[in-house]
Amino acid sequence: CGIVGYIGKEQAAPILLEGLSRLEYRGYDSAGMAVYDQDRDTLSVHKAKGRLKVLADQLQNGAAVKGTVGIGHTRWATHGAPSDVNSHPQVSQSGKIAVVHNGIIENYGELKSFLMGKGVSFLSDTDTEVVAQLIEYFYQGDLLKAVGQVLHRIQGAYALGILCADYPDQIIAVRKDSPLILGYGDGCNFLASDVTAIIKHTRRVGYMEDGELAVLTREGIQCYDRLLEPVDKEISYVDWEIDAAEKGGYEHFMFKEIMEQPQALRRAILPRIREGEVCFEDFGLSQDYVRAMSKVYIVACGSSYHVGMVGKYVLERLTRRPVEVALASEFRYMDPIVDGSTLVVVISQSGETLDTMAALREAKRLGAKVLSIVNVVGSSIARESDEVLYTWAGPEIAVATTKGYSTQLAVLDLLALWFARVLGTVAPEEYHTILDEMTRLPDKMERVLAERDSIQYFASHWFNHNSIFFMGRNLDYALGLEGSLKLKEISYIHSEAYASGELKHGTISLVEEGTLVVALGTYDRLFEKAMSNVVEVKARGADVLALTTESHSGEMEKTADGVMTIPDTHELLLPSLGVVPLQLFAYYVALMRGCDIDKPRNLAKSVTVE
Ligand code: G6P
Repeated sequence: CGIVGYIGKEQAAPILLEGLSRLEYRGYDSAGMAVYDQDRDTLSVHKAKGRLKVLADQLQNGAAVKGTVGIGHTRWATHGAPSDVNSHPQVSQSGKIAVVHNGIIENYGELKSFLMGKGVSFLSDTDTEVVAQLIEYFYQGDLLKAVGQVLHRIQGAYALGILCADYPDQIIAVRKDSPLILGYGDGCNFLASDVTAIIKHTRRVGYMEDGELAVLTREGIQCYDRLLEPVDKEISYVDWEIDAAEKGGYEHFMFKEIMEQPQALRRAILPRIREGEVCFEDFGLSQDYVRAMSKVYIVACGSSYHVGMVGKYVLERLTRRPVEVALASEFRYMDPIVDGSTLVVVISQSGETLDTMAALREAKRLGAKVLSIVNVVGSSIARESDEVLYTWAGPEIAVATTKGYSTQLAVLDLLALWFARVLGTVAPEEYHTILDEMTRLPDKMERVLAERDSIQYFASHWFNHNSIFFMGRNLDYALGLEGSLKLKEISYIHSEAYASGELKHGTISLVEEGTLVVALGTYDRLFEKAMSNVVEVKARGADVLALTTESHSGEMEKTADGVMTIPDTHELLLPSLGVVPLQLFAYYVALMRGCDIDKPRNLAKSVTVE
């Protein structure tokens, strides 16, 4: 879900709608806002199921709502189906207090029964309504005090924006385990789930800490800790440009972000190579620590997890240290074997994924050092890690990640090289070859992008299939996982990725005349094996769309029905190039199927619930 709040001298509604439009990637089941109406001395609350556009149309783009202080919300439903009544803001019984919320109140059932016992009646199925009603229950004229009392009783994760008709000159913001930032303007102030919602108005932001509460007025923002003691907030300056978060002439953010990858890779890689060596500035991991490191655990969700899957092959090959990869949502409950000599590498584009955050805390609790690879500067995961390597990909808006994935992978490759150099587990010659190849990746990626018409052609050929399999071995298997996820996320085609060798142990029974198999055969050492698997599925009637390198494309063309080609590079770097045709294939297939590419159904970019 996404939250935005504004207090100032301008009309709030258009500002809230504009802010929400930039947060829609966080959820788009429904949207709403509450604005204080001075003439009537009440809150005017507007909500609508569906995309933000439905609300915007209803409110004539904000012109229909008067008032200069308000809170808004775009929702990704957890408790209570998407509907007008379950949309946020949720309002207390008297209509005086409105709340927008991102997260989950775990003990809401218990609190709801308590309040119902006191005669409070509820309109919605949401956990958020409980917060609004509970504030009203405790409210005896001092809003801050009532909010403080509520915070002692609610459990779970939450970012809250609170507006009360008795306090028309303030908004209260609260944060625990869900992101919330403060924006400092001139005669106006903001709160938002992330910077993109407010950067048009101010670049001066404050990151709220867990357990903190803030009171926003037109004149300023005062923060408090959980005991309501005032705290000073450091103000950071956001230095990226607004057009980085705009489509800039492209039809979709996803396509724009695919095309931005060479540039993003340059930013992630080039400053970290100096005089032929990997160099991380302000890096706290000492060489002694690396030598004593017994094992690496990579923890992440979604595509970031797939980066970890590639990373495992790269790290083990280069460092000869055991590497485990775990889904963040599993890590916490699997009693992982982690101690002070384990390095836990946490990967997250947003830096806010709740499962990943919980895994990070568990790793720290077990005594591990945590190094995170994160895109969003100042995000929760970045701030709680012992060390951070930023990917510097710039804002990523499309729900399906592209430049996030490729920059994470590049940073992980650099990390593996640095470890290997310290440990002496890579021959100097190979080390330099890989580093050299890394500097060439952006140009080679541009060559892949230039060939996108051929991928569009393949997509036009196969976009009507109901089920598509991906297969590959080793690094190609890890890459296939991402290719398959991209496709299913945005095109809604059922798709699975297999280690080619496993196909014959079951899945091959699903291959029939015309089934599309995307066969990944980029890995030189395993090319012959990849070819045998292609022949195997062709013999069962499958159509094969292959991915291979320039040096093998001739041979692949003899058997496959279509071949996507990438330039040759060091074998460990092949997934960095190989992912691009797979992203493009998913994109064009979804385009031809008329899907909502940037906002696929049921998904959200930043998943801040468990
Ligand atoms: C969501 C997104 C995915 C992303 C995953 C992990 O599910 O839709 O694209 O890979 O979260 O996100 P993170 O920000 O932690 O990398």
